[in-house]
Amino acid sequence: MKRSAMLAAVLASFVLVFHDPVLRAEQFLANGLLGPVPVPADNPQTDAKIRLGMQLYFDPRLSQDKTVSCATCHDPDKGWADPKPVSEGVEHAKGTRNSPTVLNAAYNRFQFWDGRAKNLEDQALGPIQNPVEMQMTMPMALDRLSSIPGYVKQFQEVFGRGPDDESVAKAIAAFERTVISTDSAFDRYIQGDRSAMSGAAVRGLHLFNGKAHCTGCHSGPNFTDNRFHNVGAGYSKGKFEDEGRSKVTHNLADLGAFKTPTLRSVALTAPYLHDGSEKTLEAAVAFYDRGGNANPNLDLLIVPLNLTSRERSELVEFLKALTGAPLGITKPKLPE
Ligand code: HEC
Ligand code: HEC
Repeated sequence: MKRSAMLAAVLASFVLVFHDPVLRAEQFLANGLLGPVPVPADNPQTDAKIRLGMQLYFDPRLSQDKTVSCATCHDPDKGWADPKPVSEGVEHAKGTRNSPTVLNAAYNRFQFWDGRAKNLEDQALGPIQNPVEMQMTMPMALDRLSSIPGYVKQFQEVFGRGPDDESVAKAIAAFERTVISTDSAFDRYIQGDRSAMSGAAVRGLHLFNGKAHCTGCHSGPNFTDNRFHNVGAGYSKGKFEDEGRSKVTHNLADLGAFKTPTLRSVALTAPYLHDGSEKTLEAAVAFYDRGGNANPNLDLLIVPLNLTSRERSELVEFLKALTGAPLGITKPKLPE
């Protein structure tokens, strides 16, 4: 199908959804309430495990010079993300990607912008060993934990053995499964509290589903299709700074494609996109309005939207209504 015909078909389906009350209700549910957090059978949640994982998450001793913890780049006070476009690890080493929020990572089908990790257990040991993040080796990290009696005791209690790769990963993942963004104004609104969202946010919701067709990718209760798309971020002078998904699949069709991120609590996690190139929500919406960055791999849904400035600000108001209730997590006391 030609690009224009494909687009017409896609838009027609949105128009249909928008005008048919039944379909529209379904579409509405599509961006609905989050279900229970998925928990793998081999890593059940227990209070003691979550508490241990929380300490590890906040403990800078898991980094080479004891200055960087998970919370450095996924800061609870900064939407569990990092206000810097790219984070700084040990000795201010810089990576190339913006820190995604840990909020709702428990619902992701893939972890990382390019999806190279399957689940939170798979992901957790990556940053500890990453030379631009915590700069450790696992044997060093395990040695350190084993020299802290408070940790050894807790690992014994939770896993029946001292710290090892698997138990460290499982404890951190169990904690991350409690880092959830939900109970937003949007959630209250769709449960029937019509006063939960402002008029502008409600108009923004209709734009999100309709004219701006954001739900083409930011669908489902977590506002992501868990797929990879090319919106053109990071494309300049005829090439992508970052290959994105194609680095994992070795498929050229995935060049410049990145994982659709959740939009829950997105107002807390500026700057935006995998390279942190858009500083504000207004700028991110303007990016979509102009049709992203033209490139040979641009997703078919990314086209100029011709939004008015009022419509752009209504979309931003809607995105702000996705901020979840505060979690009330305080920094734990770390074992000596
Ligand atoms: C120096 C900064 C830094 C530190 C320290 C760090 N991260 Fe990250 N984290 C990042 C960046 C940057 C990415 C995205 C990397 C990519 O996509 O290639 C990321 C990705 C993630 C993701 C994937 C989220 C998603 O939506 O794909 C999770 C989960 C995560 N980190 C958890 C952790 C945990 C747990 C720790 C501690 C063990 C940690 N991070 C330490 C910067 C950091
Ligand atoms: C074709 C699929 C697609 C459509 C349509 C789409 N997005 Fe996205 N969105 C993505 C992907 C993929 C990313 C990450 C892209 C990157 O970083 O390279 C993203 C990133 C974002 C971000 C940044 C989030 C963060 O944590 O950095 C915001 C905000 C956003 N989208 C809002 C919207 C809005 C509003 C619309 C409708 C106007 C929209 N998106 C339409 C796929 C899409």
